[in-house]
Order: sequence, then C-alpha cells, then structure tokens
Amino acid sequence: MQKTALADVNGVITPMVEARVSVLDRGFLFGDAVYEVIRVFRGVTYHLSHHLYRLGVSGEGLEVSGFPEEAEIRRRALHLLKQSGVQEGTLYIQVTRGAPESRHVFPSRDTPLTVVITVEPSASFPEELYDKGVQVITRPEERWLRADLKTVNLIPRILARRQAREQGAWEILWVGDNGHVLEGGSTNVFMVQGRTLLTPPLGERILAGVTRQEVLSIAEQEGWAVDVRSIPLEEWMAADECFLTGTTTEVLGISHVDGQPIGKGIPGPVTRSFRQSLLGRMEIQAAAFWTD
Ligand code: PDD
Repeated sequence: MQKTALADVNGVITPMVEARVSVLDRGFLFGDAVYEVIRVFRGVTYHLSHHLYRLGVSGEGLEVSGFPEEAEIRRRALHLLKQSGVQEGTLYIQVTRGAPESRHVFPSRDTPLTVVITVEPSASFPEELYDKGVQVITRPEERWLRADLKTVNLIPRILARRQAREQGAWEILWVGDNGHVLEGGSTNVFMVQGRTLLTPPLGERILAGVTRQEVLSIAEQEGWAVDVRSIPLEEWMAADECFLTGTTTEVLGISHVDGQPIGKGIPGPVTRSFRQSLLGRMEIQAAAFWTD
C-alpha cells in the first residue's frame, strides 16, 4: 500500500505538498485557529477520542457556531489515515475561523470554518535520545493566558525554542510569575522524588496533555504515590528525576535544566520504566485494534 502524506482541506483530499488554504484564511493571517496532533502507531491512532474532545474544548474557546461535529472529524481523519497507508507518524487537525472576503472584517458567525486534516509518516525519535535524556532551559511564561486552549498562536514558543536550540537544549520549561514550573513548550512535565510522582495541576496556564493523563493512569495502576501540586523551580532542580511527556515525545527524561544536571544527569529508572509502560499500552491498544 502507498504511504503518502495526504491532506484533507475542507473535504478535498490531495497529496499534502499540494494542499492549499486561502491567503485570507484567519489561521494564516492571525493564528486564529486551534489544532491537535495525534500519534499514529502501528497504523492506528493513539487516544483519538481524547484529542477530539480537547479539540472541541479549544473550539469552544474560539466562540464560533458551526464547529465541526466530533464524529464528522473522526470519520474524515480515519478515512485519510486509511488512504495514506501511514503506519508510524502523526495525524494533524486544524480548524480556523475561516477565510472571509477581506482581511479587515471580522468574520460573521456563519463564515464557514476551514478544516484541515493531514497525515504524514514520521520516524520516532532515536533511542539514543531516550537513553541520554535532553537538556531544557527555563523561560518566563510569556504565552497568552489561556494555555489550556491548544491554539496555533505559537510565536512565543517558536522564539523560546530557537533560544533553547542555540543553547544546545531540546525543550523549554515555562515558568510562571510565581517561579513555579508550568509545562514544556509542547510537553507536560513530571518530577520524581523517591517513590512519588509529581506534576503541576491543570488550569488555564497548562494544556491538559493526553500523555500526561496516560502517565497518571499508569502511576495509579502501578501503585505510585502521586502528588499533583504547583512546584517551584528549586524543587525541580533538586528532584531525583524529571521527565517530559507528549504525543510524539512519549516519556523523555530531562538530563539538565539550565545547564545543571538533574539527578545523575541521565534519565533514571523511574523515567525509563514509565516510558516502557507507555509503549506497552500503545502496543496493546494497536494490537487490540488489529485483532478486532
Ligand atoms: N503538543 N503542552 C503543550 C503546550 C503542548 O503543545 C502539548 C502537545 C502538550 C502535550 O500534550 P499531549 O500529550 O496531548 O500531546 C503539552 C503537540 C504534540 C504539538 O504541538 O506538536
């Protein structure tokens, strides 16, 4: 079967490289859009329902009428995935406020939204990354104040990421005004202290990560003590282990924060064990799908 990156733009399917939206599209002009990134693993989506639910929550934040029904997006996304033949990669969904006649008018509520779905193959990160862990740098949080909505207004993240790359780091950690760590640029963050797993609570400054929820569920199943609370940066620096979670990131150990080693400066046993548990759950879900 072919394995091509495909796009569905308002129902028209083309190879991804040929897909186009209008220059008047609000997503292009203003980042006036919401999105989801979903993992494709062994040819099936991982936790598609959670992602579609969160897309609906973000969509409510746009305050538009006519946001597409969950079932409709699901049907189109799964159709596209099947057509593409992609086994390992990502499914991407973006809904924008549409393309009105002019850049200068705010679209009326009945302006049709633009719905873009893409699927593309991509390799997992190299195993070496998980063995060594990644460096992160901290940044004062400068995103807009509704970080719980997954909007495409990503300029603060792009600038901060560039700074991280220039300093040899892989990810940023957003730190709130009170000096407490919120989350990563495109990841949630966890800390291990003894046999306790800690992570900041959800709220308007943190995205409700699907992988974050999965890790909490694994912790419950495996009998870890869990403490969900706001944690100052100094506590993260003194942690036994810290790790990032995300759809494409899985569970990725942090080796250094702002150049200072966390624990021994390589991912510890708890981080590695959570990654194995997550991969185990992904395998089970994919196998169950194919044997149904
Ligand atoms: N980002 N926090 C932020 C700000 C994110 O953008 C993401 C996901 C996460 C992790 O959420 P999840 O486990 O549901 O992927 C946390 C996606 C992957 C991205 O922008 O590419």
